[in-house]
Order: sequence, then structure tokens, then C-alpha cells
Amino acid sequence: MDGNGRWAQGRGLGRLRGHESGARSVESITRYARKLGVEALTLYAFSTENWGRPTDEVSGLMKLLGTYLRSQRQELLDNDIRLIHSGDVSQLPEDVRTQLRRVELATDHCEGMVLNLALSYGSRQEILAAVREIAEEVQGGRLQPEDIDEACITSRLDTAELPELDLVIRTSGEMRLSNFLLWQVAYSELYITDVSWPEFDERQFDKAMAAYRSRQRRFGKTGAQIEASP
Ligand code: IPE
Ligand code: MG
Repeated sequence: MDGNGRWAQGRGLGRLRGHESGARSVESITRYARKLGVEALTLYAFSTENWGRPTDEVSGLMKLLGTYLRSQRQELLDNDIRLIHSGDVSQLPEDVRTQLRRVELATDHCEGMVLNLALSYGSRQEILAAVREIAEEVQGGRLQPEDIDEACITSRLDTAELPELDLVIRTSGEMRLSNFLLWQVAYSELYITDVSWPEFDERQFDKAMAAYRSRQRRFGKTGAQIEASP
């Protein structure tokens, strides 16, 4: 969800106004994804690297996150959306952690869609934690090195309970992944648009979905093989 800052600055507004506008996109895109039947939606809301931003921007974002969580509990329940998170949330302010826990508990039974908020999230850190966990299990004799397979790693990531990642959408034009779901993205389709996150609306989401549908996912095979398979 990139481009909040540039969107605001281009309008002579402060960066936080861009984040506020981005939060409205979060609400509308979440609702729309649910309507379209998306199984799981991960939103990269705050990266481990974002902690390095100016302190007033970080505290503004944290405040916004708290407000968002407070306002969304009922909305998520009404739409049967379960909230989970990825990332090291122990670093978040106490009140935000409390709100997060509260909404996660309240929506625990929801089955319409999973909304995964990547908060204080970094994919390398996530992989590192999984590797450490595996090393400890090997050291304790609970796991043999030859039993370490892809599923063993996948199941130790924050996204363990999510389905395969089909599509990554990046707004605001940068051609990079910025430490987002590096393991999970192996065979995902990428869609990068110049449209900024505050301007990313239902029509833009439709465009991304249409692009996704037009792709032939070959997973290393040939086009003929894919066409021949049922
Ligand atoms: C993305 O917008 C939102 C967060 C990282 C929280 P940016 O704040 O990165 O916007 P730009 O890249 O400065 O335009
Ligand atoms: Mg950015």
C-alpha cells in the first residue's frame, strides 16, 4: 500500500493526511475484496523498516492504527471477516496491541475472509524466526535435518494458516518487493500500478483482478502442458 506520502505532498498536504486517506482505501478495498470472494487479503500496513521514519510520522501512524482497529471491529464482524496479523507486534504501543488482540478475539469465528494485517512486518525477520525455531527443534532432537522440507518452513511463518499467495498488488509504481512475503511470493503474480494507495478504488481493484485472470500461471511448466491439464 504505497504512495500515501507522495499523494499528500502532491496536494500540498502533510504526509499524515495521506495516511488518513490510505486508511479509507483500506476500509473500502477490504469490503470489496470480501464482496468479490477473496479468501485472504494481506495488507502491508507497517514494515520493520518503517520504524526508522521520523518519530512524528511513526506516532501518527500508530494513532491511526489504533483508531482504525477501534472503528473496524463491528464492520469486520458484520462482514464475517476474521482479523489476524503478521509481524513482531510486541513492538507496537500497548494500546494498539490491546485493540488488535480485542478485534482478533472478536472475529475469531468469522469465515467469510481472512484479513491479515502485516504490522511491524519484515519477511527476512519472519524467515529468520522460522529458521531459529527449526534449529532449536533439531538441537532438541525433535526434528531431523532430513525432515526439513518446504512445508516445514511454510508452517512456521506468520502466514501459516493462509492459502497460497496468488496475487501481489503494489501501488504507486515502485518495482520492488520491499521485504514483503519473500518466501510466499515464489509463484505469485505481480501487479504494479502507478496509482497511489489513496486513489486505489474498486475500479482499480477490478483492473488488477482482470490482469490476474488474463495471466497463464505455468509454475515452471510449458503453456501446452497447462492447456492440456483439466
Ligand atoms: C505507504 O505510503 C504507507 C506506509 C508505509 C505506512 P508511504 O508513506 O510509503 O508513501 P510514499 O512512498 O512516501 O509516497
Ligand atoms: Mg513508500
